[in-house]
Amino acid sequence: MSVQSKRIYERHSMTTRRSKSADPGASDRKSLVNTAAARSQSRLTADNTLASMVDRYRAQHLCQPAIVYPPVTSRPRICVAVRKRPLNGAEMGRKDTDVLSVPNARSVLVHEFKHRVDLTPYLENHTFRFDYAFDETADNALVYEYTARPLIDTVFAGAMATCFAYGQTGSGKTHTMGGDFQTAGAQMAGNGIYAMAATDVFARLRAPEYRSQNIGVYVSFFEIYGGQVMDLLNKKAKLRVLEDSRQRVQVVNLQECPVDSVSSVLKYIQNGTHLRTSGATSVNRHSSRSHAVFQIVLRSERGALRGKFSLVDLAGNERGADTGADSRQIAVETADINKSLLALKECIRALGRKGAHLPFRGSTLTQVLRDSFIGKNSSTCMIAMISPTMQSCEHTLNTLRYADRVKELRADTRSPIRGIAVNGSDEDTDAADYEAEDDEEEEEEEEEEDEEYGADGIGDVIADITHEVIPHVVIPQIAPSLVTQRRALTKCNLHKIDEELATDFEPDFQELEDQMIGGHEELIRDFPAFTDANAELLETTSSVDYDMDEYSDRVLDLINEKINAILALKAKVSQVRAHHQ
Ligand SMILES: Nc1ncnc2c1ncn2[C@@H]1O[C@H](COP(=O)(O)OP(=O)(O)OP(=O)(O)O)[C@@H](O)[C@H]1O
Ligand SMILES: [Mg+2]
Repeated sequence: MSVQSKRIYERHSMTTRRSKSADPGASDRKSLVNTAAARSQSRLTADNTLASMVDRYRAQHLCQPAIVYPPVTSRPRICVAVRKRPLNGAEMGRKDTDVLSVPNARSVLVHEFKHRVDLTPYLENHTFRFDYAFDETADNALVYEYTARPLIDTVFAGAMATCFAYGQTGSGKTHTMGGDFQTAGAQMAGNGIYAMAATDVFARLRAPEYRSQNIGVYVSFFEIYGGQVMDLLNKKAKLRVLEDSRQRVQVVNLQECPVDSVSSVLKYIQNGTHLRTSGATSVNRHSSRSHAVFQIVLRSERGALRGKFSLVDLAGNERGADTGADSRQIAVETADINKSLLALKECIRALGRKGAHLPFRGSTLTQVLRDSFIGKNSSTCMIAMISPTMQSCEHTLNTLRYADRVKELRADTRSPIRGIAVNGSDEDTDAADYEAEDDEEEEEEEEEEDEEYGADGIGDVIADITHEVIPHVVIPQIAPSLVTQRRALTKCNLHKIDEELATDFEPDFQELEDQMIGGHEELIRDFPAFTDANAELLETTSSVDYDMDEYSDRVLDLINEKINAILALKAKVSQVRAHHQ
């Protein structure tokens, strides 16, 4: 065993040890895998059912070695991970099929059940790659180790760190952030990411370099429900969000409670969680209806901000699909949640593009987290949670596409989504055509991975799962532009590139043209948020005691921001024209 693999092994066993003490459910992980194997064995006898097709696919394509996670050596500004939850008791009782596979530390496959026109069933296998992929045997401690824990460095470097849990209802966001649910519905706050982050903050403060600095630790906990901010550490008091002329956002009167130990933090987490707005959805008895933001704040002796860690348990991303409750309220909730999740994605993407326009006014969530998206040392991590059953397949694909869009700009050297089309009998006639070029691409990717993880790292355990590469470019609300499509197609080395799209372009010019069209798309995409913000502002004038100075300041801010975006686009268009003449 090389030094590096040994280190990886030690790190993994350390994580496992840590999780054992923190998570009693961890001891069940082995039996979970065994049960799954036994289930899959008995299904192999049935033919052409979803379960047997998935089993066959796994048997033929996915050698599943124990997943080894490489040590974290560097921290990108944006890290995106995916976590699959295990089938729950009800799903097992119904004999639901697990349609997700996690073949290695970075990929997840969704086996979508489809029928051809002649009604022959087949699987469409979608592959997504992220910074980390966790299967159903991973516990909270392992997920924490690779997602939120590295962000502790960011906080101690004096910057803003933010970790989001994203996914459909019942996929495990609250379980991951707040801790395991017990049968009575209470949570074991000690093994959630909130508590683990607090534990590491206190441990770091005991290190010699910080011990003498008298840094104070404070926590705040609030939820955003229907655009309203409510203080979970102060009897759900409704709080106002104000922005000054320098775009600094303040949540007025938010309680910041001083804490001196992990146990005091746990008390606040438990109290706040108890107050959080929740209800039952058709798939989750303890469904959270709001975005919850738990913050750990470091301050100097004089009260100056030294760093902030925001841990966000987002509301489910598919509320509209749930018909179990009052439809009007659901519609209002859905509209608000969708608006905020769209704005969030754009803000994280802006963080990855230095100097990009930050559309933080698109929602209360992004407004209160504005600081997380600015500052050259800020880092963000998104954990996309996914549920394993076929019933969740559509939401799972939506979640993975959303997470992929968040990451895409950073991982711009390779195709973000790799779809694999394999039919039920695995007669993949086109696959051979693509093999040679795929091999080249795989080699390049593996070289990149080796650079990223070291030669003894993850590259050794990646299963060979590539058959066909289908580019998939998603731009919300707007059809992909010709240039965007061409770029995606060219990158993926597809054979059948449309002649018109494949025209050779001078790279510099193409880059300029891409920027121009990208800027134009962004301008269009941001307009609804601009209109909403103006409408909201205009509404304030109907109150008799509205503040005219504040109103006019904010109108000017909004207009100036839009003018700047338009002028930036104008400059890009002029540049392209000048280059073309
Ligand atoms: N990784 C996991 N291991 C074991 N159980 C899990 C896991 N993830 C989720 N669960 C269980 O699934 C149920 C739903 O999880 P949770 O409440 O965290 O979902 P959620 O994503 O927060 O949903 P909502 O959006 O409705 O609030 C809980 O009972 C939880 O304990
Ligand atoms: Mg929840």
